[in-house]
Amino acid sequence: IKGGTPLRGEVQVSGAKNAAVAIIPATILAGGPCLLENIPDISDVYTLYDMLSLMGATVRVVSRTSVFIDTSNITSHKVPEDLARQLRASYYFLGALLGRCNEANVPLPGGCDFGVRPIDQHIKGFEALGANVNIGHGSVSISTDGLLGSHIYFDVVSVGATINVMLAVVKAKGLTVLENVAKEPHIVDLANFLNSMGADVRGAGTEVIKIRGVSEMHGCTYSIIPDQIEAGTYMVAAAATGGDVVIDNVIPKHLESISNKLEDCGVTVIEGDESVRIISEGGRPRACRVKTSPHPGFPTDMQPQFATLLTICDGNSTVVEDVWDNRFKYIDQLRRMGANIMVNGDTALITGVETLTSAPVEADDLRAGAAMVIAGLIAKGETSIGNIKLIDRGYENIVEKLTAVGADISRVTFDED
Ligand code: EPU
Repeated sequence: IKGGTPLRGEVQVSGAKNAAVAIIPATILAGGPCLLENIPDISDVYTLYDMLSLMGATVRVVSRTSVFIDTSNITSHKVPEDLARQLRASYYFLGALLGRCNEANVPLPGGCDFGVRPIDQHIKGFEALGANVNIGHGSVSISTDGLLGSHIYFDVVSVGATINVMLAVVKAKGLTVLENVAKEPHIVDLANFLNSMGADVRGAGTEVIKIRGVSEMHGCTYSIIPDQIEAGTYMVAAAATGGDVVIDNVIPKHLESISNKLEDCGVTVIEGDESVRIISEGGRPRACRVKTSPHPGFPTDMQPQFATLLTICDGNSTVVEDVWDNRFKYIDQLRRMGANIMVNGDTALITGVETLTSAPVEADDLRAGAAMVIAGLIAKGETSIGNIKLIDRGYENIVEKLTAVGADISRVTFDED
């Protein structure tokens, strides 16, 4: 990336990664043909297609953004190990297979490294529904003679546990009440998808979800919501480069916590029906205080990108990471680019500098990689980012999208030497 140029123009946002990675395994519950639209063209999605295919499903990519999946002939309730380790969402096969086949065997999942990532709340939920859970030899095995509806209170608000238990329970006997659930937009999207397949899920997006088990489900056509985090990443990139960018194909309501923080920094945010325009042309933005929390709070998946903007804001900012234990690893990379950041436990103290300086850096994980891209767009001179396969896990055509708004960015391959 040769940085220092304000971004200008329009960016189209793709379908939501974290909705897609739940909805693709959820097709198992249909036991029939599904057509999914507005799917993001990212590597995590293709890994899930490979898993489904190896389990006996028919997966046909219809276009760059749509896929036909027929899970009627699934022959295995076991998820292939090497693929499962590539992403966190492979654990959604636990809930989906348990819900359909009363049996599941899934290797302990991979995904970004933010310290300990326990799955105790998933297991608490499965057990409360009457499943036997065994963890051993690096895998989770679950079986049941038949799940029964239950009342489950989650001890922590977990996106993954909420989704997994929703998947397991849609075909269970009776009523299930889930309390202290996650409220992220992709939880609502999954509930809408399950209901389009014949499930009876109510209350998604609030504190309590009620699910009445149904005996039959069927395939459907469904279009996935736009990606809140991809949109937020381009909003911050526009603000950090002093640009003027319309981010299109979004649900502005999903972006409110990000828009509000940008406004705190003095950046102009103009909401349209399906777009937000970011204007940041009046000099350095102001410092501010950010604390991550579950939806509708400020998303942890925007923390590295927003912290990167704060490195060049005028004044002292604080970023409190309240969701993950260890999501500040990328800060060492920002320091290499001249950022002034001190980390104290869950808090990063950022003293704004005039600008960043270019350097060779690495993508430590998906969103940390996006943060490095924003840092490279800020810094004058040439920044190279290594390990970009982690960025490709979650951002469709990031190079092309940024080029279209004036960035000087290209994808290069070096030989190993
Ligand atoms: N937690 C537990 N026990 C559990 C589950 C979670 O203590 O059984 C704790 C975690 O340790 C963490 C907190 O609860 O402190 C929240 O974890 P959550 O389960 O909500 O996270 P996740 O489902 O593993 C999803 C997203 C992440 C995103 C988090 C939080 C997917 C595939 N991943 O992870 O997204 O950071 O929710 O919003 O949906 C990303 O897209 O870059 C990404 C990492």
